[in-house]
Amino acid sequence: MNHFPSSMGSFPATRLRRNRADDWTRRLVAENSLSRDDLIWPVFLKEGSGTREAISAMPGQVRVSLTELPDHVGRAVELGIPAIALFPATPVQRKDSEGTHALDPDNLICRAARLLKATFPKLGLIGDVALDPYTDHGHDGVLRQGRVANDETLQVLAAQAVVQAQAGIDTLAPSDMMDGRIGALRSALDLAGFNDVRLISYAAKYASGFYGPFRDALGSAAALKGDKRTYQMDPANSDEALREVALDLQEGADMVMVKPGMPYLDIIQRVKATFAVPTFAYQVSGEYSMLKAAIDHGWLDPDTVILEALMAFKRAGCNGILTYFALEAAARLKHG
Ligand code: PBG
Repeated sequence: MNHFPSSMGSFPATRLRRNRADDWTRRLVAENSLSRDDLIWPVFLKEGSGTREAISAMPGQVRVSLTELPDHVGRAVELGIPAIALFPATPVQRKDSEGTHALDPDNLICRAARLLKATFPKLGLIGDVALDPYTDHGHDGVLRQGRVANDETLQVLAAQAVVQAQAGIDTLAPSDMMDGRIGALRSALDLAGFNDVRLISYAAKYASGFYGPFRDALGSAAALKGDKRTYQMDPANSDEALREVALDLQEGADMVMVKPGMPYLDIIQRVKATFAVPTFAYQVSGEYSMLKAAIDHGWLDPDTVILEALMAFKRAGCNGILTYFALEAAARLKHG
């Protein structure tokens, strides 16, 4: 109540509808804005050539092979999207219990990074750091006695980060939720001479059912044994997200992320209000598929809901959003 002194007026002298009466005043009084500069587009990669494979749980999204990748990503570049996030679908025969293929400098994400850097030198490339695309058990780290072993996983993740940086990845995005991984990555990168490679931390990543379609997209759903609740956060918690962010910032994170997005807008708001650092949200696969299914059925209007959902992230305090709607959104943002 203290925010609203009586000098702010009352009806009928004050009518809030006046400022809404015309497009020009609505534009002048708008408190937040969304532009193409706010968008990061996640892209799924696939081995082979000549392939753009539909992802059934994510209508409109595809897995692309490297031969198609420049054309696919070129659309984002033309629309002025600043960065893309790469996610490789690893063939089953390359997966093992330790996720060793993550360290192969010729793996799919590294080849994609070299190709994209050569084709689009100004496009930001964000690389996923976690072992789940590479492990036959689908977990983000290595298992010891049936549990994900934190400190052993850190060593593998640090090596994975350096391999990706060598391939031309500009920003590493650890999505694994091990304790201490930002510090481990930062020192490994600095030691290897990559002090300009950025870290965008999945700082507050929840154990969420909304990742279901993504796991289908990467084929890690079939592999996953059990769930990820021993390392991803409990959806019941909010204070804990602030501790996660605080630790990641101390360890050297340049940007932090909250994931999923729309069900966790309260977390985004607290993180931004507390730390005032570059804050991002991941509007995850399940959020995309919910909206897309309703749009495809004609139940929701794409011309309003896509930008409305993304604006909610800006209002909550985000600097930017990872979204599968990046292309549709950028095309709709005329004043990007
Ligand atoms: C795994 C990872 C996941 C996502 C990004 N990286 C899924 C998971 O943690 O199981 C989810 C993205 C989405 O749902 O769109 N390291």
